[in-house]
Amino acid sequence: MATTLHPLIAALVLFNLLFRGFCQCELKDITIGTERTSALIQGKQEWNVSFINTCKCPQQALTVSCDGFQTVEKVDPDVFAPVGNKCTVNGGRPIAPFATVQFLYAWDPPFIFVPVSSQVVCGGL
Ligand SMILES: *[C@@H]1O[C@H](CO)[C@@H](O)[C@H](O)[C@H]1NC(C)=O
Repeated sequence: MATTLHPLIAALVLFNLLFRGFCQCELKDITIGTERTSALIQGKQEWNVSFINTCKCPQQALTVSCDGFQTVEKVDPDVFAPVGNKCTVNGGRPIAPFATVQFLYAWDPPFIFVPVSSQVVCGGL
Protein backbone atom coordinates (compact mmCIF):
# COMPACT_ATOMS: atom_id res chain seq x y z
CA MET A 1 0.00 0.00 0.00
CA ALA A 2 1.37 3.37 -0.96
CA THR A 3 1.28 5.79 1.91
CA THR A 4 2.49 8.84 0.00
CA LEU A 5 0.40 10.89 -2.39
CA HIS A 6 1.15 10.30 -6.02
CA PRO A 7 3.37 13.22 -7.11
CA LEU A 8 1.00 14.13 -9.92
CA ILE A 9 -1.99 14.27 -7.55
CA ALA A 10 0.07 16.31 -5.10
CA ALA A 11 0.97 18.74 -7.89
CA LEU A 12 -2.67 19.05 -8.92
CA VAL A 13 -3.77 19.70 -5.33
CA LEU A 14 -1.08 22.34 -4.92
CA PHE A 15 -1.95 23.94 -8.24
CA ASN A 16 -5.62 24.03 -7.26
CA LEU A 17 -4.83 25.66 -3.90
CA LEU A 18 -2.61 28.26 -5.54
CA PHE A 19 -5.14 28.95 -8.23
CA ARG A 20 -7.92 29.42 -5.69
CA GLY A 21 -5.66 31.79 -3.81
CA PHE A 22 -5.60 34.01 -6.88
CA CYS A 23 -9.34 33.85 -7.22
CA GLN A 24 -10.48 36.00 -4.36
CA CYS A 25 -13.10 38.05 -6.09
CA GLU A 26 -15.70 40.02 -4.21
CA LEU A 27 -18.85 41.85 -5.12
CA LYS A 28 -16.87 45.10 -5.03
CA ASP A 29 -14.94 43.72 -8.02
CA ILE A 30 -18.06 44.36 -10.08
CA THR A 31 -18.15 47.93 -11.30
CA ILE A 32 -21.38 49.32 -12.68
CA GLY A 33 -21.29 52.42 -14.84
CA THR A 34 -24.17 54.31 -16.40
CA GLU A 35 -23.53 56.70 -19.28
CA ARG A 36 -25.98 58.98 -21.02
CA THR A 37 -26.27 58.28 -24.74
CA SER A 38 -27.27 60.83 -27.35
CA ALA A 39 -30.65 59.14 -27.95
CA LEU A 40 -34.15 59.75 -26.68
CA ILE A 41 -36.56 56.81 -26.90
CA GLN A 42 -40.25 57.72 -26.70
CA GLY A 43 -39.19 60.97 -25.09
CA LYS A 44 -37.07 59.23 -22.43
CA GLN A 45 -33.32 59.59 -22.09
CA GLU A 46 -31.38 56.51 -23.18
CA TRP A 47 -28.66 55.12 -20.88
CA ASN A 48 -25.76 52.77 -21.54
CA VAL A 49 -25.13 50.51 -18.54
CA SER A 50 -21.81 48.67 -18.20
CA PHE A 51 -21.14 45.81 -15.77
CA ILE A 52 -17.37 45.35 -15.54
CA ASN A 53 -15.72 42.39 -13.84
CA THR A 54 -12.52 43.88 -12.41
CA CYS A 55 -11.38 40.60 -10.83
CA LYS A 56 -8.79 38.33 -12.43
CA CYS A 57 -11.19 35.39 -12.42
CA PRO A 58 -14.52 35.02 -14.19
CA GLN A 59 -17.65 35.78 -12.17
CA GLN A 60 -21.01 34.23 -12.94
CA ALA A 61 -24.60 34.34 -11.71
CA LEU A 62 -24.31 38.08 -11.18
CA THR A 63 -27.48 39.66 -9.81
CA VAL A 64 -28.11 43.33 -9.12
CA SER A 65 -30.87 45.22 -7.36
CA CYS A 66 -33.46 46.47 -9.81
CA ASP A 67 -36.67 46.81 -7.81
CA GLY A 68 -38.69 49.50 -9.58
CA PHE A 69 -36.57 49.46 -12.74
CA GLN A 70 -38.49 50.56 -15.81
CA THR A 71 -37.61 51.04 -19.47
CA VAL A 72 -39.43 51.99 -22.65
CA GLU A 73 -36.65 50.42 -24.69
CA LYS A 74 -36.72 46.65 -25.05
CA VAL A 75 -33.81 44.99 -23.24
CA ASP A 76 -32.44 41.61 -24.36
CA PRO A 77 -33.31 39.23 -21.46
CA ASP A 78 -30.16 37.27 -22.29
CA VAL A 79 -28.18 40.29 -21.13
CA PHE A 80 -30.37 41.74 -18.39
CA ALA A 81 -33.57 40.25 -16.99
CA PRO A 82 -35.72 40.67 -13.87
CA VAL A 83 -36.01 37.65 -11.57
CA GLY A 84 -38.19 38.52 -8.60
CA ASN A 85 -37.03 41.88 -7.25
CA LYS A 86 -33.49 41.39 -8.60
CA CYS A 87 -32.07 41.17 -12.11
CA THR A 88 -29.65 38.71 -13.64
CA VAL A 89 -26.80 39.95 -15.80
CA ASN A 90 -25.50 38.08 -18.85
CA GLY A 91 -28.10 35.35 -18.33
CA GLY A 92 -26.12 34.20 -15.28
CA ARG A 93 -23.26 33.12 -17.52
CA PRO A 94 -19.64 33.88 -16.55
CA ILE A 95 -18.26 37.34 -17.23
CA ALA A 96 -14.58 37.02 -18.17
CA PRO A 97 -11.89 38.87 -16.19
CA PHE A 98 -11.91 42.58 -17.08
CA ALA A 99 -14.76 42.04 -19.54
CA THR A 100 -17.75 44.34 -19.81
CA VAL A 101 -21.38 43.38 -20.28
CA GLN A 102 -23.42 46.28 -21.51
CA PHE A 103 -27.03 47.09 -22.33
CA LEU A 104 -29.14 50.11 -23.24
CA TYR A 105 -32.41 51.23 -21.69
CA ALA A 106 -34.47 54.38 -21.69
CA TRP A 107 -36.12 56.00 -18.70
CA ASP A 108 -35.99 59.22 -16.71
CA PRO A 109 -34.36 59.39 -14.21
CA PRO A 110 -31.64 56.70 -14.57
CA PHE A 111 -31.75 53.71 -12.23
CA ILE A 112 -28.92 53.06 -9.77
CA PHE A 113 -28.03 49.36 -9.93
CA VAL A 114 -26.23 47.82 -6.97
CA PRO A 115 -24.59 44.36 -7.14
CA VAL A 116 -26.37 41.80 -4.91
CA SER A 117 -24.56 38.52 -5.54
CA SER A 118 -22.11 36.74 -7.80
CA GLN A 119 -20.10 33.52 -7.87
CA VAL A 120 -16.42 33.34 -8.64
CA VAL A 121 -15.48 30.76 -11.25
CA CYS A 122 -12.24 29.23 -10.02
CA GLY A 123 -11.67 26.81 -12.87
CA GLY A 124 -11.64 23.88 -10.44
CA LEU A 125 -9.99 20.66 -11.50
C1 LIG B 1 -21.79 51.74 -24.22
O1 LIG B 1 -20.64 51.80 -23.43
C2 LIG B 1 -19.63 50.90 -23.83
C3 LIG B 1 -18.51 50.94 -22.80
O2 LIG B 1 -18.24 52.23 -22.39
C4 LIG B 1 -19.16 51.26 -25.24
O3 LIG B 1 -18.16 50.36 -25.64
C5 LIG B 1 -20.34 51.18 -26.17
O4 LIG B 1 -19.94 51.59 -27.47
C6 LIG B 1 -21.45 52.05 -25.68
N1 LIG B 1 -22.63 51.85 -26.56
C7 LIG B 1 -23.42 52.85 -26.93
C8 LIG B 1 -24.52 52.49 -27.86
O5 LIG B 1 -23.28 53.99 -26.52
